[in-house]
Amino acid sequence: MKIHWQAGSGQPDQRAEAVVLLVSPDDLDKGGIHPSADAALAALRERHLFDGSLLKTYVLPVLENGSRQTLILIGRGDQPLTGEELRLAGIKAAKEVLRIQASIVAFRVPSTVMNYTVEQGNRAAAQALTEGILLGLYRRSTYKQNAASVIEPDELFYYPSGITDEQTVQEWEKGIELGIAFGEATRYARDLINIPGNLLVPQTLADQAVQLAEKYGFESHVLNEEEITEKGMGALTAVGQGSIHPPRMIVIKYQGREAWEDVIGLIGKGITFDTGGISIKPALNMENMISDMGGAAAVLGVMDALGRLRPAINVVMVIPSAENMPAHNAFKPGDVITSMSGRTIEITNTDAEGRLVLADGITYAKALGAERLVDVATLTGAVLVLLGDVASGILTNDETFSQGMISASKRTGEKLWPLPVYEEFRDMLKSDHADLKNNAGRYGASSTGGLFIEAFTDGTPWVHLDIAGTAYLTKERGVNPKGGTGVMVRTLVEWLLSEVEYPAG
Ligand code: BES
Ligand code: MN
Ligand code: ZN
Repeated sequence: MKIHWQAGSGQPDQRAEAVVLLVSPDDLDKGGIHPSADAALAALRERHLFDGSLLKTYVLPVLENGSRQTLILIGRGDQPLTGEELRLAGIKAAKEVLRIQASIVAFRVPSTVMNYTVEQGNRAAAQALTEGILLGLYRRSTYKQNAASVIEPDELFYYPSGITDEQTVQEWEKGIELGIAFGEATRYARDLINIPGNLLVPQTLADQAVQLAEKYGFESHVLNEEEITEKGMGALTAVGQGSIHPPRMIVIKYQGREAWEDVIGLIGKGITFDTGGISIKPALNMENMISDMGGAAAVLGVMDALGRLRPAINVVMVIPSAENMPAHNAFKPGDVITSMSGRTIEITNTDAEGRLVLADGITYAKALGAERLVDVATLTGAVLVLLGDVASGILTNDETFSQGMISASKRTGEKLWPLPVYEEFRDMLKSDHADLKNNAGRYGASSTGGLFIEAFTDGTPWVHLDIAGTAYLTKERGVNPKGGTGVMVRTLVEWLLSEVEYPAG
């Protein structure tokens, strides 16, 4: 779908089949919202059909002069909207657009739209709306023989009403560009998560990454199982050894600066399916473990956004990928393995595999020059007990770093909540026979899981994001559909852009 700004007349293009209008109770009283529907709009309020209250929607066909236009009315209440409310308005509009199968959509932008928002910025408003629309149009692809085709619109344009100054237009164009990057990158991550485990194995995930790198002209490389073992990545080797689909270490570099310095490492957990291995999981809901590469999808989504926006930063993306299977040759409880860092690990539960592959991922990212690290992982069931599927957990060895990430998350509406770090939790990871053990038991499991990874940072500034609860939903909510959400793509991109002081406003 093409999204753009239509300069000019203040009237929607005649070709538009759907016209989206943000409407307040006051607008309804005053009238003049749409020339050929004014009487109908007034009647909506009188007859209690639509009153413009926040995020209420109403769909109204225009019949005058044989028009084929349909108005999609979205209530905006009588208070300024937050960014998240604007995104939700976009979601509502998108759902109606899909319902009426419109192929060309016009979205009215009144001159006072800035006054609609708490943030008081055209750029932020345009971005939030565009993001919402793209996220709301997302449909998980199916494998049905006779799938009903849902038509996504070909074209969406914002048309100004009463906007003349060039600066406002430029701010809208910038916001649209950002909204497209954030929205499309998230949709890409959702698609990857939703691919079934038989169709997405470490090699196919690697193929996806290489394809993305080629699309944007990024450098990439993939280590196969032999190279992984040769480089001493004993943790990734162990997790992957029981599967007929061997592990891969996947790397993409984005160089936005002249020199390869101040490199940010993004490490995504890429378990393409997690059975638990020999410490096998119960059958109930195990199918959701196709989402155990949600961290990998998030960092790939970020790379997609970087390809679109090309900010002046350096990023190395690392995905340690494996399929965690039980098998005669699988790793097992009691095994002692040696990670790439040289640290030895006693395996006490093969289902605590994410931290193992991330250990080697962190070490490799540092070897490739990363000076700050962010790992994203569907790491612990315990984070679901703590935060449900509502918020992701964040844990760090650098408070300032983590605060930056949390403030980015407040702007994107993706919730982050700090996991506690105590010396006692680190003590729980001590092993009698090795440097660490991989399972510290049920108590404080999200913190101990994160702190296991911390050991491999060796003091490099680091933030850990546990998205086990938020990467994959069993029921749609807010801006997210059922299935893969692409959570943390937008927050990570927002944080990365804040690193280069992306023009605000
Ligand atoms: N992939 C799971 C975590 C998970 C659970 C993600 C539920 C999404 C939904 C992870 O590999 C795992 O199995 N963690 C174990 C660790 C335990 C054995 C220390 C867990 O949380 O139970
Ligand atoms: Mn597991
Ligand atoms: Zn897992």
